[in-house]
Amino acid sequence: MKKIFLSTINNKIPITIGNNIISSKLLSKHIKSKSVVVVTNKTIGKIYLKKIRNCLKNYDTKVLEIEDGEKYKNITTFTKIHNYLIDNRFDRDLTIVAFGGGVVGDLVGFVASTFMRGVKLIHIPTTLLAQVDSSIGGKTAINHPNGKNLIGTFYQPISVIIDTKFLLTLPEEEYLSGLAEVVKYGLISKPSLLSWMNKNSKKILSRDKDCLGYIVLTSAREKVRFVSQDERESNVRAFLNYGHTLGHAIEAAMNYRNILHGEAISIGMLFASMLSVEKNKLDIKDFNLIEDTLEKLNLPTQIPKQIKTKNIIKHIKFDKKKQGDRNRFVLLNKLGSCIINDKLKDDFLEKMIGNYRS
Ligand code: NAD
Ligand code: GLY
Repeated sequence: MKKIFLSTINNKIPITIGNNIISSKLLSKHIKSKSVVVVTNKTIGKIYLKKIRNCLKNYDTKVLEIEDGEKYKNITTFTKIHNYLIDNRFDRDLTIVAFGGGVVGDLVGFVASTFMRGVKLIHIPTTLLAQVDSSIGGKTAINHPNGKNLIGTFYQPISVIIDTKFLLTLPEEEYLSGLAEVVKYGLISKPSLLSWMNKNSKKILSRDKDCLGYIVLTSAREKVRFVSQDERESNVRAFLNYGHTLGHAIEAAMNYRNILHGEAISIGMLFASMLSVEKNKLDIKDFNLIEDTLEKLNLPTQIPKQIKTKNIIKHIKFDKKKQGDRNRFVLLNKLGSCIINDKLKDDFLEKMIGNYRS
């Protein structure tokens, strides 16, 4: 079991990482309130409810299961959870445990930050994406009909407990989607992780226990490094959006159907890498290594045929990370070194997307 810490302006948050580590002993080290509410979804509840209840048997524990899916990350579910807490007369002596993937984590984090002006929150992430990214850093959110993650807060948990054993029941496509975010750390800050993933792709795909331990710990350390330097995303935290400008545009153009976030980010990262060769000094050999690694990990690199380039450009223009009227891309100077480019014009991007697709 490994422990790392995220230092923020006000807190030092322990992040505990290991395989098969969830136990009543570990949880009692982190939970000091009388009452505990675990919020999870029905899919995860079906597999792990007994286990989590058992680990929390020393507390006055209640479990709330919400519906499964991104479409439930909204104000209706947010209100439902608040109603549950109010109906059950919980007070501030409460710890809320967000037990699930990024959807549960974002939604429950937002609830914890607003119920009684903020109660204690613990993340126990169960997807690869949540373990390497969303449970670390304090971003909470719900979606608005006009866009993803438009409403939310920055709210740090008191603890993050990452058990890689949960990843063994994750559907294959969700596992691959999380791997895209791991590759991202290899590109933006830890080139040795990228070459390691390229060499060990088969073991990674088989979810070998030691591989999971290595990729989750290494990614969590990288995420901590970015967030501790820039908690509110005014500078380097934005580098975590590598591949996300095109990725988000593809997700939006597909109406968030038939493509997972990580799959869209995989395509977006290879496109950003092509721009980095064209506009910066990324070596073509490194571009080839990135492409080869994504392919070995069964991640997509082609923009889906059914979306028109013009539609992608339209969505890039709407991207909320745009500043002023500029298209904002994170690019690489070389592996492990990023820069923001907000000078790429629509017609240039259209031409580059055309080249990329051909
Ligand atoms: P998700 O939470 O929808 O989980 C994916 C699927 O896996 C769901 O069907 C879920 O029920 C199932 N699942 C979860 N754990 C399981 C397990 N151990 N075994 C079997 N099935 C399991 O998706 P996600 O990819 O984890 O998260 C995506 C969300 O995260 C998006 O809403 C995104 O906006 C958000 N996000 C937030 C941040 C942040 O910094 N807060 C960062 C990245 C992404
Ligand atoms: N997932 C990007 C961030 O946490 O900033």
